[in-house]
Amino acid sequence: MSRPTVYIETYGCQMNVSDSELMYGSLAAHGYEAVDGPEGADVILVNTCAIRDHAEQRVIGRLGELRRHMKKGTVMGVAGCMAQRLGPTLLEKARHVSLVVGPDAYRALPQLLEGARQGERVTATSFDLEEHYEDFAPRRFDRVKAWIPVQRGCDYRCTYCIVPYTRGAERSRRLDDVVREVEQVVRDGMSEVVLLGQTVNSYSDGTHDFAALLRAVGSVDGIRRIRFTSPHPNDFSDAVIAAMAEVPQVCEHVHLPMQSGSDRVLKRMLRRYTREGYRDCVARLRAAIPTLNLTTDIIVGFPGETDEDFEETVSLVQELGYEDAYTFKFSPRDGTPATRMDPATFVPDDVASARLERLIAVVRAGARERNLRLLGTRHEVLVEKAARRGEMLQARTRDFKTVMLPPDGLAIGDYRIVELTGTTGSTFTGVVVPDAAPRRLALPMAATAAAPAC
Ligand code: SAH
Ligand code: SF4
Ligand code: F3S
Repeated sequence: MSRPTVYIETYGCQMNVSDSELMYGSLAAHGYEAVDGPEGADVILVNTCAIRDHAEQRVIGRLGELRRHMKKGTVMGVAGCMAQRLGPTLLEKARHVSLVVGPDAYRALPQLLEGARQGERVTATSFDLEEHYEDFAPRRFDRVKAWIPVQRGCDYRCTYCIVPYTRGAERSRRLDDVVREVEQVVRDGMSEVVLLGQTVNSYSDGTHDFAALLRAVGSVDGIRRIRFTSPHPNDFSDAVIAAMAEVPQVCEHVHLPMQSGSDRVLKRMLRRYTREGYRDCVARLRAAIPTLNLTTDIIVGFPGETDEDFEETVSLVQELGYEDAYTFKFSPRDGTPATRMDPATFVPDDVASARLERLIAVVRAGARERNLRLLGTRHEVLVEKAARRGEMLQARTRDFKTVMLPPDGLAIGDYRIVELTGTTGSTFTGVVVPDAAPRRLALPMAATAAAPAC
């Protein structure tokens, strides 16, 4: 008899991408064959995100669409944060769904699927604070970089955020286990790792902190690039910053969610830092790593945000010079403290939309100005994949800039020195510099011209 087939569609953050890799790996070990599309698959799983209402609506719509790919006996399952948040009510909302499984219950997936294939309708959403899926062999899709979860859950309680409710309490993997996985990644032919956690720099296995983890991963032979996401500003200890500066593989890019530039709003968000504290964190990072590139997350329209508050966000964005920012309109999530704030303080949608539009324009203008100044400079890139359109290959600098390159003589996984020849404002085109050996390059001064005054 042929093996049952499984298709997993993934939404949300890299943690979900990594979890889907773990699920694929576990199901392969239990006799399933992975397929590239939903048509005719025996099992269709949608790994979901609950961070904003829009993300959930997209999944609801997609679940409806996927129905037409089901054949007799197909099991449709919902995994991830929305599964955790809604539990068995999902089975009522979508009658063609017969399995709901939360992020801590993937170990039971083969048995749960067995039940669902027999016609049961099952939900598994218990938290398991010991669970790191240590013995799972992930099936990785990215050919050059490996997602490595080092921490699950979150102990912060930002008042807008659903993650602590969908992912449970924070826990870290043991350093030895992380290192073993990184060694395997090298044996599999990859040289870049991205360490994942909701507040990844608060990593602690009881003995080792995030600084120790960076140094341990950096000492694995064959690792050339180390990234991590997302750090929390309060967890950048001096030791962590020193490790970032001293471990040569740690890339010069930090995604540092700011959320707001206004102290009043930060307080209501329970972000646990002030505008000045955030700015100080950036200054410490830039003092240690002068060519550091920054990206961020920002929420506009949080309850109580006034025009003045919003202007504080705009001015901090301008001052700090982000390479890019993911900007979101506040989305109330059931059960989070922000939904219990005085409704009179809620920001009307048209006001939030206008703020979002303005913020995006500010971010783009700043990035464009800085990127234009980078034309003609040289950078080490890693060729990551074929570009979505056209013949070009997509490569990435250490500081996370995207560079499109003509494919001649290049293969995915190659490191090269390139010269930046053009920019759309956000991404670059470039050419390989013949005979230049890839190594760590000090960027010319132009690259740091956006450094803040702090
Ligand atoms: N753990 C990460 C963030 C994970 S969620 C951190 O703390 O930095 C990714 C981003 O989604 C957040 O940084 C925030 O900007 C945004 N976000 C989270 N909850 C939101 C909500 N209710 N409405 C709008 N944006 C939200
Ligand atoms: Fe959510 Fe805050 Fe935790 Fe990030 S730190 S996952 S925003 S609660
Ligand atoms: Fe979404 Fe869950 Fe990640 S809510 S952002 S998939 S942790």
